[in-house]
Amino acid sequence: MRTRTIAILAALSVLVVTGCGKKEGGKAKKNAMTAADSAAAASKQPFAMKEGRRLYNHYCGVCHGETGDGAGQYYGLTPTPANFTDRAFMKSLSDEVLFKSINEGSAAVGKSNMCPPWGNSFNPEEIEFIVGYIKTFSGR
Ligand code: HEC
Repeated sequence: MRTRTIAILAALSVLVVTGCGKKEGGKAKKNAMTAADSAAAASKQPFAMKEGRRLYNHYCGVCHGETGDGAGQYYGLTPTPANFTDRAFMKSLSDEVLFKSINEGSAAVGKSNMCPPWGNSFNPEEIEFIVGYIKTFSGR
């Protein structure tokens, strides 16, 4: 009798475990598909690139344009916001200069003071993400 109860309990727990396993699997698949549907390209990008793009679109796109061409909504600025799609221009700026101008503002790299310093808004890692992202506009 005792052995039988144990056997039944064991069989039941196996059922419970497999049952749960199936459910979890189904759920994970469903979530993955939703993410794929909403942002197929974005989901394939590494976190650094996604984060760089998110921050850029939120804070920089208004002047530099979401496509990086320097033609954001504040198109009347003098000088015009840097054009990140200009490969020659981007090649002339090292990663260190890009980092410094974002961190401390364009005035810190000998330009006008029209690009504000962002060092108080972002931590160094986030600035690295943005540097990585703005380089993609020119493929540099
Ligand atoms: C208020 C508008 C404005 C915003 C917002 C802005 N910028 Fe700028 N940015 C400019 C202007 C204008 C220049 C050109 C400055 C110059 O050439 O004197 C510039 C230049 C730059 C440069 C080039 C500096 C160089 O060495 O020539 C970089 C890099 C840059 N911005 C990055 C950013 C990033 C990253 C953000 C968002 C975190 C951002 N900017 C937000 C207006 C803006």
